[in-house]
Amino acid sequence: MLFFFVVSFANATFNLTTIPFNAGYSPLFGDANLVRSPDGNGVRLLLDRFTGSGFISSNMYQYGFFSANIKLPSDYTAGVCVAFYTSNGNVFEKTHDELDFEFLGNIAGKPWRFQTNLYGNGSTNRGREERYRLWFDPTKDFHTYSILWTPNNIIFYIDEIPIREVERSEEMGGDYPSKPMSLYATIWDASNWATSGGKYKVNYKYAPFVSEFKDLVLHGCSVDPIQEVSATGACSGIHAELQAQDYATITPMRRRAMRRFRERYMYYSYCYDTLRYPVPPPECVIIPSEKQRFMETGRLRFGGSHRPRRPRRGGRTATPVDENEQVM
Ligand SMILES: *[C@@H]1O[C@H](CO)[C@@H](O)[C@H](O)[C@H]1NC(C)=O
Ligand SMILES: *[C@@H]1O[C@H](CO)[C@@H](O)[C@H](O)[C@H]1NC(C)=O
Repeated sequence: MLFFFVVSFANATFNLTTIPFNAGYSPLFGDANLVRSPDGNGVRLLLDRFTGSGFISSNMYQYGFFSANIKLPSDYTAGVCVAFYTSNGNVFEKTHDELDFEFLGNIAGKPWRFQTNLYGNGSTNRGREERYRLWFDPTKDFHTYSILWTPNNIIFYIDEIPIREVERSEEMGGDYPSKPMSLYATIWDASNWATSGGKYKVNYKYAPFVSEFKDLVLHGCSVDPIQEVSATGACSGIHAELQAQDYATITPMRRRAMRRFRERYMYYSYCYDTLRYPVPPPECVIIPSEKQRFMETGRLRFGGSHRPRRPRRGGRTATPVDENEQVM
């Protein structure tokens, strides 16, 4: 499978402009555990028994392309969550938007799993999680994780392979993220949630847990969230430029790779979870070969909710738990 992906994409590279850490980002919390690289182009985020750490983009963006080369902590990482995401929860507490990559830790010898998710205008009771395995070991080398967010679609990429696309539909209404967001990266103790639904806790015998970020890309229209409306016109040039980029369109070849990834590595999707959503949310595109892989109910097992990041939001629906090792 790895071979296949490598061959397919040998010639494809997005035209990305990276920026030094200090040019686009600031520490968010756990400053002592945020270590800048000597060349200024990256950081290491550490979690130890005292604190996790994180950074935030200095500006907010209304649509954009956000990317980083990330290397995850190795060995025993149960309960450790590394997140790379966009959000505006600090500005719009009740009506926030969010796009997530969340890496869920694991016990030694088991592969990392991760999820993608989105919220729009405070839709925290309508989680849109998908969960996956990876076709490589994300602790061995850096890999590129990217989020494209335009007025028309959202694409999550890993190493330039699209793994999920959400096309904006009229029926989604405010659930489609549309207000300016910041880019965040964090590492934190998610013992009560991350690994097999909280079955495995962080074991600080293995601390510090180190995640590395470099080759940071922020490409979008920088907007003051409060003056959002008046600034929209000023962004149209940048939106057009975004949508003209290679990464804004999924070519037939990339679409085939996305299909293959999802058939092989996705083990949960809210779109097939009929217990949670008897009628799939409007953006869901039901693909028979994907659906076949899930049980009648579309789910493995459920429980728990997540996120200590900031005490800022209320209840959420249950999110999936990967209890069931046999799906590996
Ligand atoms: C790549 O992006 C840069 C900066 O946005 C631009 O100046 C350059 O022309 C682009 N190169 C190609 C091959 O599109
Ligand atoms: C977002 O939610 C607020 C509060 O519920 C509502 O007034 C507003 O119309 C919503 N916006 C969209 C785009 O749906």
